[in-house]
Amino acid sequence: MSARYQFSGTTAVEISAGIESGIRTGALSPGAALPPVRALAADLGVSPATVARAYQELRQRGLLVTAGRHGTRVRPRPPVAARRSALRPPPLPGARDLSRGEPDRRLLPPLGPHLAALAADTGPSVSYSDAGVLPELAEVARARLDADGVPAGELTITGGALDGIERLLGAHLRPGDAVAVEDPGWANLLDLVAALGLRPIGVPVDDDGPMVAGVAAALAAGARALVVTSRAQNPTGAAVSAERAEALRALLAGRRDLLLIEDDHAAELARVPLHPLAGATASWAFLRSVSKPFGPDLRLAVLVGDETTVARVAGRTRVGAGWVSTVLQRLVLALWSDPAVDELVRRAAQSYEQRRDGLLTTLAEHGLRAHGRSGINVWLPVPDETSAVTALRDAGWAVAPGALYRIAAAPAVRVTVSSLHADDLASLAAALAHAANPTPPPGFPT
Ligand SMILES: Cc1ncc(COP(=O)(O)O)c(C=O)c1O
Repeated sequence: MSARYQFSGTTAVEISAGIESGIRTGALSPGAALPPVRALAADLGVSPATVARAYQELRQRGLLVTAGRHGTRVRPRPPVAARRSALRPPPLPGARDLSRGEPDRRLLPPLGPHLAALAADTGPSVSYSDAGVLPELAEVARARLDADGVPAGELTITGGALDGIERLLGAHLRPGDAVAVEDPGWANLLDLVAALGLRPIGVPVDDDGPMVAGVAAALAAGARALVVTSRAQNPTGAAVSAERAEALRALLAGRRDLLLIEDDHAAELARVPLHPLAGATASWAFLRSVSKPFGPDLRLAVLVGDETTVARVAGRTRVGAGWVSTVLQRLVLALWSDPAVDELVRRAAQSYEQRRDGLLTTLAEHGLRAHGRSGINVWLPVPDETSAVTALRDAGWAVAPGALYRIAAAPAVRVTVSSLHADDLASLAAALAHAANPTPPPGFPT
């Protein structure tokens, strides 16, 4: 894969700068294997320590990943601007794309009428001195969280859930610190953890959320933060159950050395109740994004937490980006206040549930147990991801390889059901069944 890239440099700085520019231009594509340290050192006429330093610097910045016997590779989504096409190869022409993890655009509430109403009622423009969290938005956000049992805390607004997580991790941790993350878990979070120079510790997940023994092991291994997806866990669809929440709260009770972050990105789209862990630890934050129910382009999430945690995020935002635009905040408030929008979100949630359950049931008829308690994805364990993705591609379906989401979890593929039609179920399930139970190659069994 790295055949198009000519390695060069005689110092660690030159070698790493060359690799970074190779990633930027697409000559080194995501996932591309890099030569072993000794081989590259011999090629360039430098010491192995020089190449090792270059690789280490790029690893700490999240551009490279070293995966045991698989050697060193470019991360699937390295944190350096590259041509988008290099980051995600387009599905074959005519293929149905179930790889993206996006809500169905047709099920998002239209923004036009509310934007028009805002345009007609702009009032005086907000200036640097009076900008910040809109009190009206904060009030409605608190009431919505309170109704779901999230304890009242301090509140701020971030540019989405991931922005909130980045600000929380940045304010509490330092490069080299360990973060407990779900395994399998959200690819963007794994990329962010790598880009911040943090060490991920994988916590196994089942349908009820992060497993208690896995969290205990991560704590014992020195995790300074724990990120839990409340519902619609990406990629498995897990949702923290009442029993799991109780057990995790007992484990975490009173811990002063751990930042607990909860990501309720599915929010109003989740058809399962919320069982928050918020408040179990001294440092905690609960994030609710508007991306999935109301549209990813809104870039807004509500963050509540203990006083110090929220003050750190709000204070850091103030000296940087400043605030999340009050134009956006007013738009979200308008969406939250419109019963017609509520009804559209309710119908979208119902529709995702039907598609997910439809696929799980059809897969069960093929004898396959897949996962998807909530959300827009189904996670199907397969023996070999590469051959499964290829077989599905040949049958006209693009799905996401589990490797994007896994640390030590077993192989699987992620199927996004948000745009799946009932008519597709039989052929998709048959193709998935074939991919999950491939015909053995001809020849003698070994
Ligand atoms: C687990 C998880 N958290 C959060 C988000 C959305 O975050 P944001 O609010 O940054 O759009 C997603 C979107 O796919 C997700 O899968």
